[in-house]
Amino acid sequence: VLSPAAGRYEITQREASAEILPGTRTRLWTYNGTFPGPTIESRRGRTVRVVHRNELPVPTAVHLHGGRTPADSDGYPTDLNLPADWPREHHGAGHAMADPRAVTSRVTREYVFPNDQRATMLWYHDHRMDFTAPAIWRGLAGLHIVRDDVEDALDLPGGERELPLLLCDRSFDADGALRYPALDPALRDRPGVRGPYAAGVLGDVILVNGAPWPVHEADAARYRLRLLNGSNARHYDLEVVTDDGRRLDLVQVGSDQGLLAGPVTHTRLPIAPAERYDVVVDFGGLKPGTRVRLRNRLGSGRTREVLAFRIARQAKDASRIPRRLATDLPVWRRSQATAVREFAFRAGHMQHGRGWLIGGRAFDPGRTDVSTRLGAVEVWRFVADVHHPIHLHLVGFRVLSRGGGPPLPQDAGLKDTVSLRPGESAEIITRFDGYRGRYLFHCHNAEHEDMGMMANLEIT
Ligand code: C2O
Ligand code: CU
Ligand code: CU
Repeated sequence: VLSPAAGRYEITQREASAEILPGTRTRLWTYNGTFPGPTIESRRGRTVRVVHRNELPVPTAVHLHGGRTPADSDGYPTDLNLPADWPREHHGAGHAMADPRAVTSRVTREYVFPNDQRATMLWYHDHRMDFTAPAIWRGLAGLHIVRDDVEDALDLPGGERELPLLLCDRSFDADGALRYPALDPALRDRPGVRGPYAAGVLGDVILVNGAPWPVHEADAARYRLRLLNGSNARHYDLEVVTDDGRRLDLVQVGSDQGLLAGPVTHTRLPIAPAERYDVVVDFGGLKPGTRVRLRNRLGSGRTREVLAFRIARQAKDASRIPRRLATDLPVWRRSQATAVREFAFRAGHMQHGRGWLIGGRAFDPGRTDVSTRLGAVEVWRFVADVHHPIHLHLVGFRVLSRGGGPPLPQDAGLKDTVSLRPGESAEIITRFDGYRGRYLFHCHNAEHEDMGMMANLEIT
């Protein structure tokens, strides 16, 4: 954890190796040598500056997911950090790069995060044009937690009993090397090769904060689990079960963009790529020695298992889950909306073969797809062919409806990513507040994103 005191942090993007699977070494691309990268803790309203230095062999772009960030620090895919020796003529932004002269680059650059937003858990990750998925897969992801006084006053489980959990899946070769289709140079940039993993790349090892299937020693008390699905494409449907067959509730207190108005109790909780759920699970009354498993109902075999807790001791518990949590959730009404837009998220044909498209078009950094005014309230309607977790940069939104009906219980609160299920439609409402400039919206299945399912949002 990088402490909040200084307000300015330095992160070096570099190769490093780690023992992820026992007895093997895995080469990673990292922020400061670790996977996940260092957790940044900040306070609402206090600006954090992060200086990133790129010592990797490829260009990078850093995006703070869920951040209310000025456009020039938002990690636009062609706004790159170049390695010092990167040849100028190969900007490396990818084949879909319309105009290489549009690429801006520096080896070291400072990202400014004003943190003028509700307390929540954000994450930062690579966002380079066409290569976001393999870069995240190789390790370029970390957490950024924004805190505030409102949340501190609530007595939710804290300290050792607050666990930020980055869930992801990876595949490994026998020697420990990460396995990812597009990392094989023989396959790279060959048209048609996108087919086999067009649905997204899945791994067969589940990592929690970079460790495979960890076992955590816990007190018999309430725990606050701050869940992030940092997987490229894997969906989870989480449940918590004890080894004597009891199912424990997941009491949701927060969503992507902070606290809910009041707790929502789930017996299972679906979590799509890039979503965050802030939940409290109560181990109170469990006997020491009990094992509690966090499982994925959508997995099979070993991918059903995510994380285990071993209850080590009885303990006092002064935490509580207040019936009322946040009072500052924005409420926008349809009647305020000055535009209603519709976007189809579907597979289709693009220049280099099949891809994933929004409104029939693949991402083009040179095209403005949506232009709106700062402060405008809009309703956006999404339709999906297969599963697409749809993410907007800069703003949080409320889910208004799903399939013409009410939202799901887990849609409560303020979101920045909404998980559309196959064949489903959903409506969201938001105010385009904060900063002017060029932002993005896209599918957060990272392979879909790289294969074109992204669009520009210009706020004027
Ligand atoms: Cu986490 Cu543009 O995304
Ligand atoms: Cu984002
Ligand atoms: Cu998608």
